[in-house]
Amino acid sequence: MGTYAVTGSASGMGAASADLLAEAGHTVIGVDLRDARVTADLGTAEGRSAAVEQILEACGGTLDGVAAVAGVGSSMKDPAAVVSINHFGPVALLEGLRPALARSGAGRAVVVGSNSATTVPFVDERLVDLALGGDEDAARQRARDAQEAVPARVRDYSPSIGAYATSKFALARWVRRTAVTPEWAREGVLLNAVAPGAVLTPLMRESTSQASDPDSFPTPMPLGVFGEPEDIAFWVYQFLRPEARFTTGSVLYVDGGTDAAMRPDDLPTAMGS
Ligand code: NAI
Repeated sequence: MGTYAVTGSASGMGAASADLLAEAGHTVIGVDLRDARVTADLGTAEGRSAAVEQILEACGGTLDGVAAVAGVGSSMKDPAAVVSINHFGPVALLEGLRPALARSGAGRAVVVGSNSATTVPFVDERLVDLALGGDEDAARQRARDAQEAVPARVRDYSPSIGAYATSKFALARWVRRTAVTPEWAREGVLLNAVAPGAVLTPLMRESTSQASDPDSFPTPMPLGVFGEPEDIAFWVYQFLRPEARFTTGSVLYVDGGTDAAMRPDDLPTAMGS
């Protein structure tokens, strides 16, 4: 049996992922703001360092997998906090734990992004570059500035929608760029992302008042149902299994068909000549 760290383990998809691992007999080190073995704020540099340190202590220096699920939604008032929690949180945590994953010989890492990265029209390229460049202070400032460009009626409904979609876009790009580097790929540490759509969790219920009828949701829901936390945990678990050994750098949409409905022809993208 293995040892796995799961962030966001106190609620929603993180709790469902932790449950699945525990039911399979694995040791789970939960990480969250509350109700977890490791309590830490992944929105700050100090919190991330403390989390890495405590996870390493708890696992004895070797980890079989990490699920970076913790995150916030677009209803959070401060867009800078959204970028810190949703992008810099998982990136720092995974970079800090990569050596422990390498030590297992078949380390697995999975992050939870969002289909908002590709279905919300407010991704800010400058913010993506700052996030991927690792400049958190500049990214936080840009997130606040960029939010002004979002129409006021959208902001009233969803105060940090631009920062939210952009943080998840940058995270998905980080996964694709990072997974194939020798430090990860040649150390046997596989890194993938799940991009959920509308999933019935406390976060979704706080972010929208339209969580009752999939057919009147702002984005199309082809399957006619919202997701449950277990629908995401299922795929998180698949990516964490040692048998999942030939997939890295992938972004899997688990969204009831929303992205395919909105952008049917954007994937696959042919290589430019
Ligand atoms: P949730 O609110 O039920 O659970 C999120 C967990 O993350 C909570 O336990 C919370 O305490 C923890 N967390 C938040 N900020 C933290 C911080 N600074 N440090 C440590 N822990 C922190 O939400 P849900 O829906 O399960 O979200 C999981 C992930 O899925 C998030 O990254 C979210 O952005 C993403 N997502 C959610 C969607 C949905 O429809 N629910 C859709 C697409 C993506």
